[in-house]
Amino acid sequence: MTSSGDATALQPSKIPPPKSRILGTGHYTPARVVPNTELEKVVETTDSWITERTGIRRRHLAADGEVTSDMAAAAGRRALEAAGLNVADLDMIIVGTISGDTPVPSCAVHVQRKLGADDIPAFDISAACAGFVYGVTIADQFIATGAATCVLVIGVELLSRILDWQDRTTCVLFGDGAGAVVLGPAKGDGRGILSTRIFTDGSLAESLAIPAGGTAEPLTEERLAAKRNKVQMIGQDIFRVAIKNLTSASTHALKAAGLTSAELDWVVAHQANLRIINQVSSRLGFPLERFILNIEEYGNTSSASIPIALDEAVRDGRIQPGQTVLLCALGAGISWGAAMVRM
Ligand code: ACO
Repeated sequence: MTSSGDATALQPSKIPPPKSRILGTGHYTPARVVPNTELEKVVETTDSWITERTGIRRRHLAADGEVTSDMAAAAGRRALEAAGLNVADLDMIIVGTISGDTPVPSCAVHVQRKLGADDIPAFDISAACAGFVYGVTIADQFIATGAATCVLVIGVELLSRILDWQDRTTCVLFGDGAGAVVLGPAKGDGRGILSTRIFTDGSLAESLAIPAGGTAEPLTEERLAAKRNKVQMIGQDIFRVAIKNLTSASTHALKAAGLTSAELDWVVAHQANLRIINQVSSRLGFPLERFILNIEEYGNTSSASIPIALDEAVRDGRIQPGQTVLLCALGAGISWGAAMVRM
């Protein structure tokens, strides 16, 4: 496989027309808003540290009793409504999440039941913050081959329930929420998923992990006491590669779509850290004003961050039909990717 640093090698000689397109978008975020100042009472942190180091001012956290699939189903219903479609029109549900309702079955199974969808395949993608871009990539492939015609792709996370609320290096960063798109066949008018590129580098697997709860570290009292079942992150490790890899994946996706950053209208990047987005903006030579940003309001919602931001920008009219939008994300794995879309 071509290394992620060598974008030109992936440029096709002829750019194929898009096979799938976005028919509708939707999102759901919980009502409870927790400002940074509230976290000053929980861990040794300050509003100014969080704001200056990350760009986050608030996050929305799920209510007691609210589960991941509730948020996912709400976002999915809104995307279907925006597309003018019904659950019966779907022939696949893909959910990007690392914080599903249960270890087994998948979150998508719970979503399928809540939506009332019949017998269609429903499955999860575990690619952390890149889960939505991975989901769109897979849905695009199913539609391109004709194996599916209407796919609901959801990014959802309820990370607040799997964080260590005594660990200031993680608990201040994340928020809960869900976003969704419905994908269907392109119409031949140039609108649709122009390209997608996804990557994984397992050598950094320990940089961001929930170490216990799987076969490597089955849950024991000792591991629970050591909080090995909670999110653990070496932020600096991820920070360094995030800027480089998000830029290279975006360059790949742009080239594969036959576009340059000068032809871009918007970038919807994963909202993990405003400093990362800033750096990606300057490396791509694309102005920060044309990035859809909502990290201030929601924090890092992992796989949900791109579809939430996308839906907000579609609904408030910033993103217009026919415009080009670059989606890019990186998270645990590490896994990352980018997609070029003409809306
Ligand atoms: N409040 C106050 N001080 C803090 C806090 C806090 N909440 N957290 C850390 N600090 C301290 C540290 O202890 C350290 O103190 P020291 O210098 O005395 O040792 C100091 O602040 C600097 O810590 P760093 O870790 O170097 O801070 P950095 O500038 O790297 O910011 C951050 C940390 C925000 C995590 C950053 O590294 C980052 O954004 N990393 C990338 C995260 C990411 O993209 N993750 C992938 C997506 S998530 C997913 O996949 C689920």
